[in-house]
Amino acid sequence: MKQFQSGIIDAIPAHAEYLYFTLQQDTSTSPLQSTVQAIAEHADGKHFVLGLGYDLCQKLGLKISALRNFDIEANPSNPEATSTTKLNADLWCWLRAEERGDLLDMQRQVLAILEPHFSLAHQVSAFRYREGRDLTGYEDGTENPVDEDALNTAFINDINSPLHGSSFVAVQQWQHQMQTFHAMNNTEQDHIIGRRKSDNEELDEAPSSAHVKRTAQESFTPEAFVLRRSMPWSQQSQSGLLFAAFATSFDAFEAQYKRMLGYEDGISDGLFRISRPINTHYFWCPPIHNGKIQVR
Ligand code: HEM
Repeated sequence: MKQFQSGIIDAIPAHAEYLYFTLQQDTSTSPLQSTVQAIAEHADGKHFVLGLGYDLCQKLGLKISALRNFDIEANPSNPEATSTTKLNADLWCWLRAEERGDLLDMQRQVLAILEPHFSLAHQVSAFRYREGRDLTGYEDGTENPVDEDALNTAFINDINSPLHGSSFVAVQQWQHQMQTFHAMNNTEQDHIIGRRKSDNEELDEAPSSAHVKRTAQESFTPEAFVLRRSMPWSQQSQSGLLFAAFATSFDAFEAQYKRMLGYEDGISDGLFRISRPINTHYFWCPPIHNGKIQVR
């Protein structure tokens, strides 16, 4: 039997809804515990992946040592590479479906369980674009670990630990400047990513600001592997990537992101020329024991 939320490892769905909730201040411990228990029983981990934030876990008395709040500021020497606000959410729902209408039904059920004590603070509607590409047209996820490596990257694997099957996700919403991107010629675009859009070939001659040169997972010490499960989003005339990196801690994400911001060598990631992060959240995705998500 699977001991992790399998939606994390499954392929990207056609549609998704990301719901971020904050706890209402006046909620006392007992209704809080029963509401979190109710949503954990409702989430199946496959079509509904559940994450809990640091502040909520503190209130519930859960000691999850790897869990913390996001707190990385932009590098003052590289002001063009902006970081994001420190707004934290207590509870995160990643609803996944092949039909847009199913998400509506799922969201209604989630709100009915949570709304007495949680407020919906932020929502992002996301979708699969051209078999898993970013809105810039580049294939996303090529260098993701696969099979056993993917499981070992994304989930704590220690049967003696109560956290066995847990994952930690960094969720970062990026907003693209599509006009700026489309005004660039093919070579300029390819040099921002470090891959050729036409055939996904990695480009040795790309500058060291190229995104895949910044984030090459084997180039960190220790190696910084994550399982990326990002999805494009759009709302009115704005659009971008809902970046999500699952791992056994936030260390790999932070190492990559700090290098993107230019903390290591003063070179910021080319992506900042065409996109910018607008919010970042960290969550613990609890394990599944006996077929149920376990928050205790
Ligand atoms: C606008 C936001 C972003 C876009 C459009 C984007 C797009 C891409 C693309 C097209 C690739 C190459 C194909 C692949 O291996 O998946 C890639 C690779 C990668 N990206 Fe991003 N990415 C974004 C943000 C981030 C962030 C914030 C991080 C981590 C802090 C990150 C980490 C990685 C990693 C680890 C790789 C694989 C590098 C390797 O080992 O070769 N990306 N990304």
